[in-house]
Amino acid sequence: MPLATAIANSVHTLQGSFGAAPEVGVILGSGWAEAAAQMREVRTMPYAQLPAFRSTSVEGHAGEIAVGRIGAQRVAMLRGRTHTYEDGDCAGMAGAIRSLKSWGVRLLLQTNAAGSLRASMPPGSLMLITDHINAPQRSPLVGEPGNARFVDMGAAYDPELLAHARQLAQFHRLALAEGTYLWALGPQFETPAEIRMFAAWGADAVGMSTVPETILARHAGMRVLGLSLMTNMGAGLGFESLTHAATLQQAQASGSYAGQFLADLIASLADLPSLRP
Ligand code: HPA
Repeated sequence: MPLATAIANSVHTLQGSFGAAPEVGVILGSGWAEAAAQMREVRTMPYAQLPAFRSTSVEGHAGEIAVGRIGAQRVAMLRGRTHTYEDGDCAGMAGAIRSLKSWGVRLLLQTNAAGSLRASMPPGSLMLITDHINAPQRSPLVGEPGNARFVDMGAAYDPELLAHARQLAQFHRLALAEGTYLWALGPQFETPAEIRMFAAWGADAVGMSTVPETILARHAGMRVLGLSLMTNMGAGLGFESLTHAATLQQAQASGSYAGQFLADLIASLADLPSLRP
């Protein structure tokens, strides 16, 4: 099925099942699932029923969309994202993101688990993503026609939403770091030499997702905000060797306040005038 048809079918199904789109869409990464527990009036649908949504092979990531409400804010949560390392395709989330946008979602809130490159951000820290580095230099927009593909990435992470998130963290007296997220293709973890290089480039955290989705969302005309949960120090900076199980375990250990902050953030968006139609 051509992608455009898959998107049209998906939007039709989303609309038919959930009605009008919420303003806010969330991609739930490892460690952030707790926020979903705070949703009310939740209804879910497996990606298998949405032809533009690809399911994922990664442990710790389900494959369903959950639509509900946190406080006064309606929200659609994607539980599970595909990663470029699964099949080499960095546009695996194109169908899902374009479906959300075409349904009517205006803001994409991205969450992920990441390795920290800064001693001041130990495992368990939360980081607001202020910018990113596309280290593999791969783009999900390769092959897109027309001039819309030349997306301005000068303020990819929305300045107004960044200010809003900072204010909320301050209000809750929550330590919220800020920094640049670097996308590494994976699935292998980095070498210590790579981590030193990434830090010298100006990266503060490293992970295997998020950047392709930000590019897709900006191309689609959505506003983007991103949050990283540090699950480990980057290779060579900590004492332990890195495993997926250990990062998941740390993600779960920190998940309750990460999820709580995400839920508070989503609820607070109901007060943001610029998100209203
Ligand atoms: N590197 C890459 N991705 C990650 C890491 C890491 O150290 N931790 C969690 N996701």
